[in-house]
Amino acid sequence: ARITLRQLLDHAAEHDYGVPAFNINNMEQGLAILAAAASVDAPVIIQASRGARAYANDIMLAKMIEALIEMYPDIPICMHQDHGNSEATCLTAIQYGFSSVMMDGSLEADAKTPASYDYNVAITSKVVDAAHAVGASVEGELGVLGSLEHGSGEQEDGHGAEGKLSLDQLLTDPDQAVDFVTKTKVDALAIAMGTSHGAYKFTRKPDGDILSMRVVETIHAKLPNIHLVMHGSSSVPQELQELFNANGGAIRQTYGVPVEEIVRGIKHGVRKVNIDTDCRLAMTAEFRRIAHTQPAEFDPRKFLKPAMDAMRDLCRQRFEQFGTAGNA
Ligand code: G3H
Ligand code: 13P
Ligand code: NA
Ligand code: ZN
Repeated sequence: ARITLRQLLDHAAEHDYGVPAFNINNMEQGLAILAAAASVDAPVIIQASRGARAYANDIMLAKMIEALIEMYPDIPICMHQDHGNSEATCLTAIQYGFSSVMMDGSLEADAKTPASYDYNVAITSKVVDAAHAVGASVEGELGVLGSLEHGSGEQEDGHGAEGKLSLDQLLTDPDQAVDFVTKTKVDALAIAMGTSHGAYKFTRKPDGDILSMRVVETIHAKLPNIHLVMHGSSSVPQELQELFNANGGAIRQTYGVPVEEIVRGIKHGVRKVNIDTDCRLAMTAEFRRIAHTQPAEFDPRKFLKPAMDAMRDLCRQRFEQFGTAGNA
């Protein structure tokens, strides 16, 4: 059944668990997420980026979600717009049946330039008013995702701020977070603690200097009732990097967000944990393995089925690690 982000995260807060939010672009990813959820009785957040909507088509995406809801009537499903960059993106998502939207006002609409605080408050408030009027939830973001290690906004995937950012842009300011939540009335708040999107987050296993879970704890202490969201939360498992590279891939050694750090976050108010890169890697490592070990294979299903199974297993692991399992 369809559920809003607010309903789901209120339940998660009450029962001390976190919910992974997995990105969807195609049928196989949807089937993988729901197979995992059904196998451990977990509620799900499925999110689509603007890129996903352009890739799959809004009508196709909406019908896929409808199909998943029909196939899995006992699993609560929240369909969320990931990184909406404008009011129009958020409102059209709601028209297509999304029960939740992210208005990412931390960057300007070009999704590259860090936005002013006033812009962020104004545009987020506007989306909250419109969304709440029709029963949809809103996630806002304060602080720019980016690398504390390199002192830069996101550049790896071309999504985010250009050039050097200061430490105070890369870590969400706790007092400003209080003001932001009070003014905008968002249902959930994404904060910056040193993570970035994509595979290349850290060049070493992160410690407190480059991944600041302290910021999460401080914000949670000041805002115990807001649901916190961690973006850029793929763990980029070593074994997936190795499988990928053993079959002709060339990912350079990299480190993601350790699951134990996310679990620490969940103890301090983190309720939504965004994961895309791990799912991509799980799938494409299988594409590589099949292509490499079965060079005569040309049936796409022989690639897509193992890829789906690998993504399902990864999703199931996260449901178990974050305490989502058993809460559907
Ligand atoms: O925000 C980043 C997510 O991983 C979505 O990525 O914009 O390439 O679909 P995308
Ligand atoms: P990853 O790239 O770490 O999977 O993060 C995804 C994300 O934050 C989507 O909004
Ligand atoms: Na999001
Ligand atoms: Zn994100």
